[in-house]
Amino acid sequence: MDPNWGLISSITWVKGGLGLLLTVAIVIYWYIRVPGDMPKNIPKVPIYISLIGLWSDMGQDIIYDRWLREPLEKYGAVQIWFAGRWNVLATRPQYLVDMFRHEDVYAKAGSQKKIPWSVIAALVGDNIINAHGENWKLFTSIMKPGLQRRITDSKPLLMKSRLFVDTLIGEQWGLGDNGVSVNPIIQRWALSCMGLSFMGVDLKALERPGQRIEELQTIIKKTLFKPLFFNFPDLDRFPYIFHQRRVAFAIMQEFGDLLCEAVKKRPTTTGEENSTEQVVDLLDSAFKEGKITETQYRNNLKVTFLTAHENAQQLLNSAFWELGNNQAVQRKLLDEILAMDTVEPSVDQVNSMPYLFSVVLELLRLYPPVSQLINRVTTQKSILGGDIVIPNHTWVGWNAFGVHTDTQVWGPTARDFIPERWGQDVRTIQSVVRSKTTQCHFIAFNAHSRKCLGQGFAVLQMKILLFEMVRRIEWTVDPTYDLKLTSGGILAPLMLRVMIKERT
Ligand code: HEM
Repeated sequence: MDPNWGLISSITWVKGGLGLLLTVAIVIYWYIRVPGDMPKNIPKVPIYISLIGLWSDMGQDIIYDRWLREPLEKYGAVQIWFAGRWNVLATRPQYLVDMFRHEDVYAKAGSQKKIPWSVIAALVGDNIINAHGENWKLFTSIMKPGLQRRITDSKPLLMKSRLFVDTLIGEQWGLGDNGVSVNPIIQRWALSCMGLSFMGVDLKALERPGQRIEELQTIIKKTLFKPLFFNFPDLDRFPYIFHQRRVAFAIMQEFGDLLCEAVKKRPTTTGEENSTEQVVDLLDSAFKEGKITETQYRNNLKVTFLTAHENAQQLLNSAFWELGNNQAVQRKLLDEILAMDTVEPSVDQVNSMPYLFSVVLELLRLYPPVSQLINRVTTQKSILGGDIVIPNHTWVGWNAFGVHTDTQVWGPTARDFIPERWGQDVRTIQSVVRSKTTQCHFIAFNAHSRKCLGQGFAVLQMKILLFEMVRRIEWTVDPTYDLKLTSGGILAPLMLRVMIKERT
């Protein structure tokens, strides 16, 4: 044997190793490089900021304050890595007005366009929120009457709110001096209200906890926001390598099947007021008439189910946190509620209460559940707000938490919870909301052509719940609880615990 054989073989190994390392480095560089035509006059947020979730569970408020606030407040927009590519993220209202007004240029393009192979795309696909152009028009023409159905009877929502408060009180009894973990109970309330109002079914989530459809929601929320796959959705292309993603795809399928099964079994409600106008009925008819495919039917059903409960769920978590630390607001609300002199408020009555309305708006301002979205793509080379040249086919988005807490937009008290800032009477408050939304100072429900179609329902549902809650209980945040907001996705306090006391 050649005496140099060992040396030659080591050199070959080293060369091979170096070659492999170089190839990996080139692939990574190619994958994360900033495209040369990205806008030059806005800063780039270092990529590691977007990846913080991989090694830390820092809340999105902290991440925003440390790394995003300064460049965004100075330049109005930044380049940021998200979902496997570089994007433009904006917070300056003037840029947002341009973006939201010109949906033809900054076209909605959700995960079904951006990452069509991913778990999230498998969950919701092309639907009323993600779609653009003809499909969006089609879905809207079918679903809008159901989404904006005028609710005239407060009783169904009031009964669910009552059961929710009963459940909280019962839970606190069993726990003594320990705080109640509110999120699981809130989720059951939100699911119940959504089912009654959009799916034509009473899911009885509060009455019968632990149903599979409820369990799946918890799993889905955890699965979607797994930082590794959230930041590198390309990994979803390889479910045969990542067992957990195989499971994730199966979970999404199971949820869709279970939901379709549940609504198929819903009672025929003919004869009841507005019974045929629920979103599920409208989708059913459209499918039967051949206006939409089965996939479009399923996608729109799923997205309605998810969006109509999750945002309210997280907003209520934030309400427990904020008002649990702010007894003065609870007391002022109680005064307004007692002045109504009823335990069965009608829709008109809750809508006539200015402070209740302002509290809901202020919660949405400081804790916008949809805190950040990057789900639009340029359809041509554009100049955002007349300042930022953006190439064609670039993903753009916005950050509501940033806009709502910017002192240049909301003044020196931007970070403070002050419901009174919205006005003293309902009419003034409505007009302030309208003008703040048009100017994109308040974008909790987005603005202009693609604003939320469920916003009327969402606000009413919160008003009814807060009426019932504040009337019957007072609460404080468990002193052993340390606030941590979600690190990405929907904004809300994580695993909040509160001490509940029944009012006498
Ligand atoms: C607190 C509760 C809610 C919040 C904060 C909220 C927020 C939002 C936001 C920010 C958007 C814009 C999304 C985007 O730009 O891609 C949106 C759109 C939408 N929301 Fe809501 N939403 C809430 C409740 C609801 C409810 C209860 C429904 C009823 C199903 C609903 C249905 C929709 C629909 C259909 C759209 C798409 C509108 C379109 O593109 O034409 N939302 N929502």
